[in-house]
Amino acid sequence: MKKISWILNIGLLVTLGAVLYKYNFVKSAPESTDMRQAVVVSAPERDALLEEMRWFLETVQGSMVALSEDEMGTIAELNSASGMRATVGTPQALTDKLPEEFRLLGVSTHQLFDGIAQEATDMGDPAVITEQIGGLLANCTTCHASYRFEIEGAQAKGVNLAIHPVCKLQPT
Ligand code: HEC
Repeated sequence: MKKISWILNIGLLVTLGAVLYKYNFVKSAPESTDMRQAVVVSAPERDALLEEMRWFLETVQGSMVALSEDEMGTIAELNSASGMRATVGTPQALTDKLPEEFRLLGVSTHQLFDGIAQEATDMGDPAVITEQIGGLLANCTTCHASYRFEIEGAQAKGVNLAIHPVCKLQPT
């Protein structure tokens, strides 16, 4: 009999531990292990930024294909679309949320795209363009190594740790 209650107790403890873990009582808040600096923006702003990123990558991909086929017109068109022109209409509210260095790196990236478009239009030297794309990609990797996006209030989401609605437990 005694043995059975021991087993029951251990079973209950394990269950309680699993519940506490599941509902995050063991940690005060879900924390990211990503050590890059968080750029905190709203969900739609993050979507827009990531969409721009995907467009950046498509520009580079398209440029490489065009370069191999010596299609300077395509390179000019693609890169000019990702140049400073792409920043027109960026809401001031979003710009204000970006850390200064992040913002400057972003501006310099748009300018590098413009430089590639310019070279494709002017001399169209494939060796120069290859070098320019290398420089551009260094901007991408520098920023990616340092920053990540985080949605505003993301830390507050999930289980309300103040009082759990079912078991009324307080977090420790
Ligand atoms: C000023 C900073 C910055 C620059 C410059 C930058 N990125 Fe990004 N990029 C980011 C951040 C921040 C993320 C999100 C990373 C995260 O949250 O994990 C991202 C994400 C991406 C993604 C993932 C998109 C998705 O849908 O998840 C792609 C692709 C990408 N970048 C491509 C590029 C390319 C190509 C370049 C250069 C031509 C570039 N980025 C330049 C900051 C930058």
